[in-house]
Amino acid sequence: MKSPLSFNLRNNLFLAPMAGVTDRPWRQLCRQLGAGYAVSEMAASNPMLWLTDKSTRRLNHDGEVAPIAVQIAGSDPAMMAQAAQFNIDRGAQIIDINMGCPAKKVCAVAAGSALLKNESLVIQILEAVHQVCAHNQVPLTLKYRTGWSLNENNALRIAQLAQQIGVSMLTLHGRSRACGFGGQAEYNTIAQVKQAVKIPVIANGDITTPEIAQHVLNLTQADGLMIGRAAQGNPWIFREIEHFLQTGKKRAPPTLEEAHHTLLNHLEDHFRFYGEHTGKLTARKHLKWYLSPIIGCKHSFLEQLMNTESTRCQFKLVDAFFNSWRNSGQYEFKPQQHPSSFFPTNLTTHFETLAA
Ligand SMILES: Cc1cc2nc3c(=O)[nH]c(=O)nc-3n(C[C@H](O)[C@H](O)[C@H](O)COP(=O)(O)O)c2cc1C
Repeated sequence: MKSPLSFNLRNNLFLAPMAGVTDRPWRQLCRQLGAGYAVSEMAASNPMLWLTDKSTRRLNHDGEVAPIAVQIAGSDPAMMAQAAQFNIDRGAQIIDINMGCPAKKVCAVAAGSALLKNESLVIQILEAVHQVCAHNQVPLTLKYRTGWSLNENNALRIAQLAQQIGVSMLTLHGRSRACGFGGQAEYNTIAQVKQAVKIPVIANGDITTPEIAQHVLNLTQADGLMIGRAAQGNPWIFREIEHFLQTGKKRAPPTLEEAHHTLLNHLEDHFRFYGEHTGKLTARKHLKWYLSPIIGCKHSFLEQLMNTESTRCQFKLVDAFFNSWRNSGQYEFKPQQHPSSFFPTNLTTHFETLAA
């Protein structure tokens, strides 16, 4: 795969931006374990929201390896341009525009994937943000869906418009806005877009195993792959896909020892980043993602873990659990491969909460 941007990347495997998930500790962990690139959670374009705790955390890129890619979302071209400049001033080396998020909260104000319905607004936003990016010599990328609905697929037209305006790379999630996260992602549109433009195209949607990764690359001829949900609880997936694409052979999952260390390091980093109260609450989802595929989501240990009083307790419990696990020889550490089953059936509601 050729490198999609003018940065030296370890590979062309991208961690997908996921609001409420891809915080700095998680991005750093995925990159250590093989992701060549990681996009931050979306930052609001509305300046009124820039000083909240959440936004301040999202603007924190301390210790992150280049390139620092920041995603912005909104519907007002001038505000989006301002948001791009604000983030560039705080270290963003790539600006990514979100036209892929189906959350009602985002779509109600015609942002995220709702923008796909209004091509003239798409043009205005891309032009306004591109002007700022070009002035700062920062590449602009676009993440989007195949269209507003299955019957309104304008992925090709949006790709051509974006290329014309000066967008440097496209990431296409093979679903329409109306599909939410239902059904299977379709890769034919991604293949058509790849054929139609000269700028790099990254394929996204339902890439959950090394074999699927290879299949999607063959089918679309994309310049890279973006992986979201399959990395939850399984940050090792990046090196596993990398190994498979390079050698055609499967790489073994992490040993219990390595998983033990990875989880504890992740927790430490997570707690440092969020502090005691938010740290304890936000670590829970990661712990569930890591552990429930192995011990089952109803295991009493998970319940205990979800009800701990402090980050210290959470940390000690996980440590003790791994120690006793090793002694019992009862379980193997096999992270999840098919994460969709861990989501509530109504994913859009889940999304609303995370994007809030
Ligand atoms: C919890 C969650 C939050 C997400 N947040 C964002 C976001 O902030 N911006 C965005 O462009 N896409 C967002 N997405 C979409 C993902 O980036 C990705 O396009 C989608 O999950 C499909 O990839 P996957 O099948 O590998 O998960 C989110 C997805 C999930 C599950």
